[in-house]
Amino acid sequence: MALLALAALFVSATLPQTAEAQSTTIAATPPMGWNSWNKFGCNVSDKLIREMADAIVSAGMKDAGYRFVNIDDCWQVSRAADGSIVVDPERFPNGMKPLADYVHSKDLKFGVYTDAGRMTCAKRPGSYDHEAQDIKTYADWGVDYVKIDWCYADGLEPEVQYTKFRDAIAQSGRQIVFSICNWGVKAPWTWGPHTGNLWRTTGDISDKYDSMSLIGFSQDGLGKFAGRGHWNDPDMLEVGNGGMNHDEYLTHMTLWAILAAPLLAGNDIRSMSEETKAILMNPEVIAVNQDAKGIQGHRVWDEGPLEIWVRPLTDGSQAAGLFNRGESAFKIRLDFKAIGAPASAKLRDLWERKDLGRVQDSYTAEVPKHGVVFLKVSK
Ligand code: GLA
Repeated sequence: MALLALAALFVSATLPQTAEAQSTTIAATPPMGWNSWNKFGCNVSDKLIREMADAIVSAGMKDAGYRFVNIDDCWQVSRAADGSIVVDPERFPNGMKPLADYVHSKDLKFGVYTDAGRMTCAKRPGSYDHEAQDIKTYADWGVDYVKIDWCYADGLEPEVQYTKFRDAIAQSGRQIVFSICNWGVKAPWTWGPHTGNLWRTTGDISDKYDSMSLIGFSQDGLGKFAGRGHWNDPDMLEVGNGGMNHDEYLTHMTLWAILAAPLLAGNDIRSMSEETKAILMNPEVIAVNQDAKGIQGHRVWDEGPLEIWVRPLTDGSQAAGLFNRGESAFKIRLDFKAIGAPASAKLRDLWERKDLGRVQDSYTAEVPKHGVVFLKVSK
């Protein structure tokens, strides 16, 4: 017995430490937080990030589960003689470490962005040939999350490049969530699970129903690659940015919950409306997204512009989204047998936050144009 234990110790001590080993302890459920890109683009600063961290706490976002405060592109300007990355001295006059400390003082986590190629998408210095050096710098600052993009990477092989970051993160000794952002190039769902904690599956989202719905509804079939510690990433949230109406944002949030997608808010938390808060912070919808089993949902039915998607949950119930992608209201019928639910099922409307009682065989709802009815179906 003692010998066996000794042997086990030896094996674990000699195995290379990789992100694989840490992936189920960090990002066990899809990461939740905020990222600067969708609303602010390159207009990032120390002041903005501090104000956003404050607002995440005061608006209740932190208590709702949003923990990461992530700076996207444009915080970096050049490299020093020793190759280390130089932070924009005008926008971040204190440097990154004090900012990370501030975010941590709010019991939040801190994230940065880089690019595996020669430049970031906004033409700032990329991490190519500086992979380990940059990760070490981030670890010294206290970074908890790194998103790594794929611009200016001509001739490079994504799996090879991203593996360098994975190993550098493991070497750093710091638990850092690793977000692969190469827009689905070379099927990252096949190598992503043993490389990072999440990987983008598509190009960039924009704050329009067409963009969001094309991305969200095209994710069927990728569920088998996702699970605790490794997630498909259909890109960050646009909820609250103003380009979609209420029903369209409900569709956005519902799809991302069913898809077990990372929930990175992309709006200005300092000035969110009550309507936006109710969408981003609905605890029952977040509970579906964060379900402990981590099984990504899938499409079970479609007919013309109407689709039903289902996600199985830990307690044996199912979350069912009845989506109308059409241009007028339609009735959608959920047949319990078709989703393996009992003939007599208990229903709860997750957006209305209302029990609908016990229902026999099927349930029909009128769903508005571009809208959704989101149900929890249980025994
Ligand atoms: C790419 C990424 C975006 C964002 C920008 C920043 O387009 O896909 O999410 O990070 O770069 O330049």
